[in-house]
Amino acid sequence: MAKNLVVIGTQWGDEGKGKIVDWLTDHAEGVVRFQGGHNAGHTLVIGQGSNQKEYKLNLVPSGIIRKNVDCFIGNGVVLDIEHLLHEIKTLENDGIEVKSRLFVSPGCPLILKHHVALDQAREAKREAKIGTTGKGIGPAYEDKVARRSLRVYDLLNPDSFKKKLLEVMDYHNFVLQHYLKQDPIDVNQQFDLSMTHAEKIKPYLADVSQKLYEANAKNKNLLFEGAQGSLLDIDHGTYPYVTSSNCVSGQAAAGAGVGPHMLHYILGITKAYTTRVGGGPFPSELDIESEGAPGNQMSTKGKEIGTVTKRKRRCGWFDAAALKRSAMINSISGLCITKLDVLDGIKKIEICVGYELDGKKIDLLPLGADQVERCKPILIEVDGWSENTFGVKSWDDLPKNAQQYLKTLEKLCEVPIHVVSTGPERDETIVLKHPFE
Ligand code: GDP
Ligand code: IMO
Ligand code: MG
Repeated sequence: MAKNLVVIGTQWGDEGKGKIVDWLTDHAEGVVRFQGGHNAGHTLVIGQGSNQKEYKLNLVPSGIIRKNVDCFIGNGVVLDIEHLLHEIKTLENDGIEVKSRLFVSPGCPLILKHHVALDQAREAKREAKIGTTGKGIGPAYEDKVARRSLRVYDLLNPDSFKKKLLEVMDYHNFVLQHYLKQDPIDVNQQFDLSMTHAEKIKPYLADVSQKLYEANAKNKNLLFEGAQGSLLDIDHGTYPYVTSSNCVSGQAAAGAGVGPHMLHYILGITKAYTTRVGGGPFPSELDIESEGAPGNQMSTKGKEIGTVTKRKRRCGWFDAAALKRSAMINSISGLCITKLDVLDGIKKIEICVGYELDGKKIDLLPLGADQVERCKPILIEVDGWSENTFGVKSWDDLPKNAQQYLKTLEKLCEVPIHVVSTGPERDETIVLKHPFE
C-alpha cells in the first residue's frame, strides 16, 4: 500500500523543509505543495565538493531535482504565474526537465499586480510591522476568502476574465489610490499580461486531486511539502504576526484536494535552535550581533539569512514550549531535528521550557501575539559539546552531549525524534526511524 508523508515546519519557518523533502524523495513518486506561495524559500544542496549545486525553490516542489518524481501545486497555493515561469526557466537552464513533471491545479487563486502593491503599501503604512515578504500573499488570500479571486482556470475564458478583472481591480484601485495614496494598477496591462500567462500555464494544468488519488491507487508514495511553519499559521500562530494561510499538517488535505485518511505520517521539521524572520514576539530570542555570543554563532555559522527577502533571521534558543503547541496542532508522528551542527562548540546550551506569564508559570506557548509578547522565557542549561558534528551520519558518531541534548528535546516536546540533520546536503542525515518504513 502507498504511504503518504506530510512534511511541515514546526517553528517560524526555514527549519530545513526543502532539504528533508528532497532527501525523502528517493522513497516517493510525487511531491505536492498545498499552501503558501512564493513567500517560501526552500534551499536544496546537491552533491559534494566542486560538483555541489544549490537550488532555491519558492513554488516548485522540492521533488523536482529527482528525475522520477512528479510535482504538484495544489489548490491551496496562491499562484504568481510570472514567478512560477521564471522558476521553471531557471530549473530548465540547469538541465532539469520540468514540463512533463509539473502539474498545477486550475483552482489556485492568482496573485496579480494589485495584490503586490497592496501588500507593500499596507506594510509601509503599518506601525507595528509584520515584515511580510511583500509578494502579495496576504491580499491574494483575502480575495480568496472574499470570493472575488481570479483563479487559474479563469484565464481560459478571456471574456469573463476581463469582466471579473475590471470589477475586482476597480475595488482594489480605489483602496490603493484613496486610502493608501498609491498609483493605481493599469487594468489593460494586467489583462494583457494575464493572457500571455494563460498560454504559458495551460500545458501544466491538471486535476491535482484526481492525479494524487490515481497515484496512490498505483501504489505510489506521495510527499506533501509544507511551507512556512506552524507558528506562522493564520489560526494557530502568533497572530497577527503570521502568514495568511494555514501551515499545519491538516491543511495538506484541503490544500491538495485529498481526504485526511490519505495523510499517513506527519514529519515535523525542527531546527535545533529557533529562528524567525520579520516582526512578532519571540520569547527565546538572543542577541545576534555580539561576536562570540551564542546568537551570533547561530546567525553566522547557521547562515541565517532569509532566502526570499535576504533579511537577517532573528535567532534564539530552542523553545520546547512552542514545540509542544506545534506537536499538538499537527499530530506529529516524528521530529526531524536540523542544523544540530550549528551548535557545535557552544559550551552551555539553554533550552526554553516554559514561560512566566502575568506571574504564572506555563509550559505551552499561548495563542496569538498579545500573550506571547508578555511571556518571559524559563530557561534550563545543558552542557554543549566541543566536537564537530557537521556531516555526521550515524547516532553512535555523535558526541555524548549532543545525544543527550537531543534526548532532552525529545522528552520536553513529548514527540520522538526520527531524523537528525547535520548538514545541508542530502546525505548529511542520521536516520533513527525512516519515515517511509
Ligand atoms: P526551509 O524554508 O524550511 O526549506 O528552510 P531554508 O531552506 O529556508 O533554510 C534552511 C537552510 O539551512 C538552508 O540554507 C539549508 O541548506 C540549510 N540546512 C538544512 N539542514 C541543515 C543542517 O542540518 N545543517 C546545516 N548547517 N545547514 C542546513
Ligand atoms: P519557508 O517556507 C520564514 C514570514 C514573513 C513575515 C510573515 C508574513 O521558507 O519556511 P507573508 O509574506 O507570508 O505575508 O509574510 O511570514 N514568512 C516566512 N518566514 N519562512 C517562510 O517560508 C516564510 N514565509 C513567510 O517573514 O514575517
Ligand atoms: Mg525558507
